[in-house]
Amino acid sequence: MLKVLVIGNGGREHALSWKLACSGKVKKIYIAPGNPGTGELGENIPIEALDFSALVKFARDEGVDLTFVGPEEPLVKGIVDRFQEEGLRIFGPNKEAARLEGSKVYSKWFMKKYQIPTAEYEVFDDAEEAIAYIKGKELPLVIKAEGLAAGKGVIVARTREEALAGVNSILVDKVYGSAGVRIVVEEFLTGEEATILAFTDGKTIVPMLVSQDHKQVYEKDQGPNTGGMGAYAPAPLVDQALMERVYREVLLPTLQGLQSEGIDYRGVLYCGLMIKDGVPKVLEYNVRFGDPEAQVILPLLKSDLVEIAEAVIEGRLEEREIEWHDKKSLCVVMASGGYPGEYATGKEITGLEEAGSLPDIQVFQAGTKWEGDKLLTAGGRVLAVTATGDSFEEVKEKAYRAVDKIYFPDFHVRRDIGWKIFRDS
Ligand code: AMP
Ligand code: GLY
Repeated sequence: MLKVLVIGNGGREHALSWKLACSGKVKKIYIAPGNPGTGELGENIPIEALDFSALVKFARDEGVDLTFVGPEEPLVKGIVDRFQEEGLRIFGPNKEAARLEGSKVYSKWFMKKYQIPTAEYEVFDDAEEAIAYIKGKELPLVIKAEGLAAGKGVIVARTREEALAGVNSILVDKVYGSAGVRIVVEEFLTGEEATILAFTDGKTIVPMLVSQDHKQVYEKDQGPNTGGMGAYAPAPLVDQALMERVYREVLLPTLQGLQSEGIDYRGVLYCGLMIKDGVPKVLEYNVRFGDPEAQVILPLLKSDLVEIAEAVIEGRLEEREIEWHDKKSLCVVMASGGYPGEYATGKEITGLEEAGSLPDIQVFQAGTKWEGDKLLTAGGRVLAVTATGDSFEEVKEKAYRAVDKIYFPDFHVRRDIGWKIFRDS
C-alpha cells in the first residue's frame, strides 16, 4: 500500500485525488497545497506547488512512494528532475520534455522538424518586424506569447488594430513579462477542437478517450477564452478512423521526434487539436492532464491510475492494458461572475452536499476555501460538476440538475455544455 502526494490545488487535482482514492493500492493521499475538496479525500499540506525544496523534504520525511503533478508550471520548472535527483518516484515529464508546453517557439519548431501537422507560423522578438509581417498577411491571425501565461497568452486578432495591439501588449508593454519576450504569429485555423490525452513512457504512447473542452466564457463559444468552462467525453467528433489518423500523424511522430531529440518523455501528453474535414492539426501541446478534461476522463478510467503511473515510470506501458468504462461523462464549471476578467471572491457556497449526494455526480472543487464552517469562493473557476451515465442526454440532465442545487452570489455557468453533440445528433 502506497502513500501518494498530489501537487496542485484545482479541480483537476481534486479529480486526480478522487481517482487515486479509488485505487486499491493507495493507503494515504497528501495534497500540496490542495483545496477543501481534496481535504475530504486526504490530508492537505500547506506547501505551494513551486516550493520544490519543501516538497522534496516532505516526500522524504513522510516516505511518500509516488508523486503526481497536476499543473504545468512545476513541470516546466523542473520538479520531476528535482524529485528524481533525490531518488523519489514522480509521475510527469522532466524539464527538458516539458518544454513542449513551456515554450511555444520550441513546440512549433519541433512540430515543423518532425512534420507534425500544425498552423503555419513565424517567430518574432521585435515588435516592428512583427507588425511589418502582419501587414502583408490575411486576417484573422493568432498571436501567442512564447511562455506560460495561464491560458491567457493567445490573441485571436480579427482586425489589424487587434493584431497590432496584441503584438504591442506582449512585446512592448510586456504584459506577460519574460513569458512574452518572443511571440509566435500563426495562421488562424478553423474547424472543431478536440483534446487527445495520452499516456507515454517514452517508448509507447497510448491515447485516452477523446474529450472536448469549452474554452470561451459564454454560450455558443462566444466571449474571451478561459481555462475551460466544461467538457465531455468520449467526444464523438473523433471516431475510430480519425483516431487512427491522429495516432499515425500526431502521436507517433511526436513520440519518435522526442526520441530523436534524446528526450525521455514519461507522463501525460496533451494534444490540443483542430479538426477540419477529417484532418487534424495540432494547436498546442500540454505536458499534463487538462482542466477540466481530467474531470471527465478520470471518472471513465476503469484501470487503476497507480498501476498505469508505475508502468509509465518503469517504462513498461506496453504490457499494460488501459480499460475504460463504456459510459459518457459531462462536466459543467461554475465560475465567479466576471471570470476570466476581474471577479470577487469570498462568497458563500451552499447546496454542495445536496448536489454531491445525487447519483452519478462528483462535485470537484477548484477555487474554494474554508472560513470557519463556511465554504467560500476563492478563485475564478470554483467548482466542476461532473455527471456520468449511459447517454449524453442523461449526463447533461444530471449535471445541470446538480448545478441547480448549488448557489453562490453572482455565479456564472454555461448552460450549453455539450451543444455540439446535440447539434450534430
Ligand atoms: P493554445 O494555448 O495555443 O491552445 O491556444 C488556446 C486556444 O486558442 C485554443 O484552444 C484555440 O481555441 C485558440 N487557438 C490557438 N491557436 C489557434 C489557431 N492557430 N487558430 C485558431 N484558434 C487557435
Ligand atoms: N482545458 C485546457 C487546459 O487544461 O489547458
